[in-house]
Amino acid sequence: MSRRAHSPSPPSSPRLSKRPRLEIEPLTPEDYKNGVVLAPMVRSGALPTRLYSLKHGASLVWGPETVDKAILHTQRVVDPVTGVVSYVGKSKAIFTTHPIEKPYLIYQIGSADPELAVQAAKAVVQDVAGFDLNCGCPKPFSTHSGMGAALLTNPDLLCSILTALREAMPPEISISAKIRLLPSQEETLKLVERIVNTGVNALTVHCRTRNMRKREPALIGRLREIVDFVEGMGRGIAVLENGDCEGYHDALRIRKTTGAHSVMIATAAESNPTCFSPTPLTDLETTFIPNYIRLCKYLNNHWSSTKFCTSQFKGAHVNASRADLKGMRDAIMHAKSYDDMEPRVAPWTGEEEFKKIVEAIEARDGRRGRVQVLTLTDAAESAQLSASETQSDASQTSTQSSTGDAAGLVTPPIGKPDPSVMNAPLAPANEARMPLPAMLTGDLSTPTPTPTRAVVGAASLA
Ligand SMILES: Cc1cc2nc3c(=O)[nH]c(=O)nc-3n(C[C@H](O)[C@H](O)[C@H](O)COP(=O)(O)O)c2cc1C
Repeated sequence: MSRRAHSPSPPSSPRLSKRPRLEIEPLTPEDYKNGVVLAPMVRSGALPTRLYSLKHGASLVWGPETVDKAILHTQRVVDPVTGVVSYVGKSKAIFTTHPIEKPYLIYQIGSADPELAVQAAKAVVQDVAGFDLNCGCPKPFSTHSGMGAALLTNPDLLCSILTALREAMPPEISISAKIRLLPSQEETLKLVERIVNTGVNALTVHCRTRNMRKREPALIGRLREIVDFVEGMGRGIAVLENGDCEGYHDALRIRKTTGAHSVMIATAAESNPTCFSPTPLTDLETTFIPNYIRLCKYLNNHWSSTKFCTSQFKGAHVNASRADLKGMRDAIMHAKSYDDMEPRVAPWTGEEEFKKIVEAIEARDGRRGRVQVLTLTDAAESAQLSASETQSDASQTSTQSSTGDAAGLVTPPIGKPDPSVMNAPLAPANEARMPLPAMLTGDLSTPTPTPTRAVVGAASLA
């Protein structure tokens, strides 16, 4: 595929940045409720992973944190074959999306400056449903410039960014924040009160404090009081739990324990993007990874990103032989390009794979087109399901149609891909979709983990 020259247009046209078209229903606090959502994850939260998360039941997906300045001065280009939209910086894509995920996509901003945050939001507003402010990243890369967890101790700045975003964005664009717990519950509640008063639609609480390490169990026991407090404020704001959720069934348990309206998953989804389903895929090397690689090739996802993400996948093993598992792992480890994966993955049926994902997303017909309803009454059923859960093979991709799903999936048609992509220059942008430079993305702030999850759950929650 030949590359077309990019025309020097801004990320979005002035007309669009003034008032984005309203081709999807706006997100309300209700859309953040009763679901399991994909967390923001630098590197690991790539477009193909977000698409599979949606296919397998994630009700909303957060994009990786992008520092405000990084998206400014990018050029928005659209791949004429796939519809993939890339915001391309000097040499690399800073952010990549597809119109099919737009109704569910929350773009996460890293910022310590209300004006820059608003500029960043305006640059991409035509491609997203909402904006989230990262107030939890504890790494020096973020905090030394006042971003991430540094905002937790600078509530005036934190709230001024949220207020600026709320005022600058049209009402149909949702605003939310993701925080960590403060050392004391009293301080946490004070901060939460201020955040809710800025007019956000949702608040995610990563149930660890800034100084807690990833391997320390999340303090989910502290969340119920926060949820009750927010509910007491009477604005209907959604509170999302984040920390140590293993998947769909675990989300039911966490919601029951904490009262949270929804649960956000990072590490477990990085390991298995089908974990949002009541029947997540196992034996990923045979059931999932080949399709993932085919999709990535079709979407022109840069091989190094695909290689990185697939090397994180670690589902349970049930049926696959050791030779199958090792063969795929070795092939990925040694592959320098998609061509090197040909013996294991061809034929390249990525386009069909993409169509299946689009169909699955479009088949969701729940409330307002977005939300998989996850009711607490499913808990008993989920316990049974967990016990009897068996492998669902690659063809059984748990698209969770509206009938017969334990979660009571109800999702509405999303509508056609956003015609606004037609306003952008057209370019395949494969080369541009390299992983982002660490200094731009905040990559340093979220080092690539090898998920070794402590067993969370009953023991630590009792
Ligand atoms: C690979 C990776 C990248 C992450 N990137 C971000 C990010 O961009 N923004 C953010 O707010 N949190 C980020 N986080 C933190 C997660 O969103 C989440 O808060 C944390 O991992 C706890 O959730 P978990 O227990 O489900 O993993 C990242 C986590 C991981 C594992």
